[in-house]
Amino acid sequence: MKHGLQEYFVETARQVADPDENQLPSETESKCARLGEIFSKASSEGPAFDHLKKTTTLFGGQAISPSSAAGCIEDLQRSIKFIQAGYLATKKALEKFEDRPIRVLEIGSGPYAPIATTLASLFPQGEVEFMALDIYEVSISCAKKVAEVLGQNNKYREDGFIVADATQIILPEEHRPHVSICETMFTALEDEPQIAITANLADQMVEGGFFLPEQVRVSALIKEKPGNKYLGDIYVLDRSIAERVKTDGVLDPIKVEAEMIAEKIFHTDTKLSKTGNYIIVETRVKIFENIMLEPGESNITATFPVYFKGKGKALTIGVKTGLGIAGGSTIKKVVSSDSENPCGYDKNWINSHRLSSFWRFLEKLMPPGYPR
Ligand SMILES: C[S@@+](CC[C@H](N)C(=O)[O-])C[C@H]1O[C@@H](n2cnc3c(N)ncnc32)[C@H](O)[C@@H]1O
Repeated sequence: MKHGLQEYFVETARQVADPDENQLPSETESKCARLGEIFSKASSEGPAFDHLKKTTTLFGGQAISPSSAAGCIEDLQRSIKFIQAGYLATKKALEKFEDRPIRVLEIGSGPYAPIATTLASLFPQGEVEFMALDIYEVSISCAKKVAEVLGQNNKYREDGFIVADATQIILPEEHRPHVSICETMFTALEDEPQIAITANLADQMVEGGFFLPEQVRVSALIKEKPGNKYLGDIYVLDRSIAERVKTDGVLDPIKVEAEMIAEKIFHTDTKLSKTGNYIIVETRVKIFENIMLEPGESNITATFPVYFKGKGKALTIGVKTGLGIAGGSTIKKVVSSDSENPCGYDKNWINSHRLSSFWRFLEKLMPPGYPR
């Protein structure tokens, strides 16, 4: 039976990662849903995690619970595109680098490591070796068991199941990946630590390696009749952040925090309505080359409207938001429009964020065992 499951897994993995030309998009979706069922079945032999439903607040954002992380595979277009992008990037890395094996790391693997383990089934042992990293010990133990049940554990490095905080870890030279794949984000880069993790890990790679996603773009549009008018980008995340936030090669938490507060003023001649106006926030993810997740295509690129008051002709619109700041929905509090004072938003918001970061910073200075 186990052998049957392993073969079924490899066949399904292939159909999701590299579908033949005649496969309809709806068929790829149903194959990905089947992958989810296979992972769930395989994990039933590992440690229980489905009762672990609490998120953890860390520097850089929230680590969603092991139970929610397992559910992410059901965000089908997200999963399909990350797996396809990882497959393409790994093939390109095999062409680009002479080293064997090349290393592929799934950052924030959850209890299934669905991207790494799916890809593992498609590359021969010795050519590529895989690693999975997560903050939760139970997720990593489960990912290890899942890889074993699906017959892929021999494709992982022996020390390739890593429990660590991805915003802090320094990877040893022999762990540095040729391909890193990281989906630790929510729409509009709210709540989860994609920014802080990219800041820490995008330059801890083999020179010339691929960090996925290549870019996350959060944009603002204003609702007009008819249609929406593009105002501009609120924030664009790519691997260049890693250079901006390091001092002498070491992550500087203050610089990371500065990145996590985006403040933009857009000029517009939109006529505002007294009854209310909307900024539409769009998220677009360029995972690898031409593989994109477009606004509205997945939970992590869901589009949402932000209501604000105003009248007359707007000259400027101010948008201020906390990105990856645990506690979320920050953008909703901070949009306003006023030609005199375009950023007349809630000043307490920023102060309370600063206060809690300062407290986290102090906690780090406390001796181990200090009562919390
Ligand atoms: C959205 S889930 C993705 C799960 C899986 N990679 C997938 O694509 O379906 C994000 C994962 O990142 C992990 N995570 C969040 N913050 C982390 C951190 N600072 N260090 C390590 N892992 C983290 C969470 O525990 C969770 O398992």
